[in-house]
Amino acid sequence: MQDETTIQQRCRWPQWRERLCSADEAAALITDGMTVGMSGFTRAGEAKAVPLALAERAAQAPLSITLMTGASLGNDLDQRLTEAKVLARRMPFQVDTTLRRAINAGEVMFIDQHLSETVELLRNRQLAELDVAVVEACAITEAGGIVPTNSVGNSASYAILADKVIIELNLDAPAELEGLHDIYIPQMRPTRPPIPVVAPDSRIGTPYIPIDPAKIAAIVVTRGKDSPSTVLPPDADTRRIADHLIGFFAAEVEARRLAPSLLPLQAGIGTMANAVMSGLSDGPFEDLTMYSEVLQDSTFDLLDAGKLAFASGCSITLSEACGARVWPRLDHYRDRLVLRPQELSNHPGIVRRLGIIAINTALEVDIYGNVNSTHVCGTRMMNGIGGSGDFARNAQLSIFVTKSLAKSGDVSSVVPFVSHVDHTEHDVDILVTEHGLADLRGLAPRERAERVIECCADPLYRPALRRYFAEAKARGGHTPHCLEQALAWHLAVERDGHMRRFQDDEALAATA
Ligand code: COA
Repeated sequence: MQDETTIQQRCRWPQWRERLCSADEAAALITDGMTVGMSGFTRAGEAKAVPLALAERAAQAPLSITLMTGASLGNDLDQRLTEAKVLARRMPFQVDTTLRRAINAGEVMFIDQHLSETVELLRNRQLAELDVAVVEACAITEAGGIVPTNSVGNSASYAILADKVIIELNLDAPAELEGLHDIYIPQMRPTRPPIPVVAPDSRIGTPYIPIDPAKIAAIVVTRGKDSPSTVLPPDADTRRIADHLIGFFAAEVEARRLAPSLLPLQAGIGTMANAVMSGLSDGPFEDLTMYSEVLQDSTFDLLDAGKLAFASGCSITLSEACGARVWPRLDHYRDRLVLRPQELSNHPGIVRRLGIIAINTALEVDIYGNVNSTHVCGTRMMNGIGGSGDFARNAQLSIFVTKSLAKSGDVSSVVPFVSHVDHTEHDVDILVTEHGLADLRGLAPRERAERVIECCADPLYRPALRRYFAEAKARGGHTPHCLEQALAWHLAVERDGHMRRFQDDEALAATA
């Protein structure tokens, strides 16, 4: 009865009762071989019941689909769908261990895309057309418009482009989410007018996804929360990385290249980027703004510290503790937040217009500043490029952070040559590890290499990198390399499981 009242309050579209059905009935609209677009971005705002119903059905009769989302799904949905062998193809991003294993075994075809591009490709019919969209909503408007929950991601374009739309109305999603979203869909090319976002707080669209209500094929009432984020609290190394960056920003302000409010900030996913952003709470900067993708705990730390004036993103993913603080007080934050479609939060033209400071995380970097964010030893997918490329190429300052060591020191994150390139040296301005910050702006490759080795590499591996660079320089070239040794560090990991043979004995003795 209580649910009935809440449903009526949230479902303002008059025909909603005619479409009400169970998750199983809605999932029956999805059949073998279909292409399906679902809501969900970094474990926020995913449809929760229909994917589970699909996984359960696949246990009875084989079913395999192409699944597109905004980014990663929570509530172990990617795991459940992988185990049930529902996923033939998956795009554009994931973070799940089971799915990662299936991707690396060649069982699921994973298309790792710049997150701003998926719906553009879909709109131009460069990808298979969408049969069904499944979108989580906190309300349905009088005209059948969908009010999303904790993420917008690609939901708007999926709902607009799909033949049929399934709405999961989540009664546990705060009703106060309504009004937070700003949905704007760029017009078709080549006559597209400029997208009028001129500041992080620009509102240019509607607070709901406008769709033809005739396409609403099913409404499933659900309950359930998003999975909490898995970011770890800052540690000594991430604090040092944050300190180096804060020192750098302070020097830029001093040199009048940046104002004390800096520029709109973007921070990537993961523990490292979150820790760096949290570090700004203690910095001397005021009136900061964010134009980012995922709003993590650090966004709300900065809002609470009075340091952040406004944050634009396409999803909100919080830890259990931060969520307990934020969700019951959403009204307190709402005027300072907006959630947009990911093609706008990550739009290369807007990133360049606003002059964003982009802070993303690398798995490994090389001495010339190329960055690998995705492939361990050049072959095994970790998560995907996500939005890092959308921002890195177009930012005013493109910053990559990483700890200098991985796997308890057995692996150096600074190598002669990255084993996979996501961001080329041309897109990388600043590299930061716990040892220091390499400002690569305006430097030629030979100058970049010296700076990266001396500022960023761990002393354990610095001498071997210096020897590599010296030998490469002796052979000549604009970007000198010893090609037969360039990937020797990765070959050592493949063969021995570590890079210890490149460690320096003296440095090792000093750490003992
Ligand atoms: N070689 C091998 N493995 C490495 C490595 C290296 N050089 N550096 C890190 N790793 C491993 C870590 O050991 C860890 O493995 P584990 O999960 O088995 O412990 C894993 O990579 C994650 O590293 P961690 O140090 O915990 O960093 P993180 O949580 O900050 O994530 C990325 C780092 C690069 C994986 C993550 O930021 C990412 O997926 N980035 C690409 C997408 C992106 O940037 N999106 C944001 C755009 S808005």
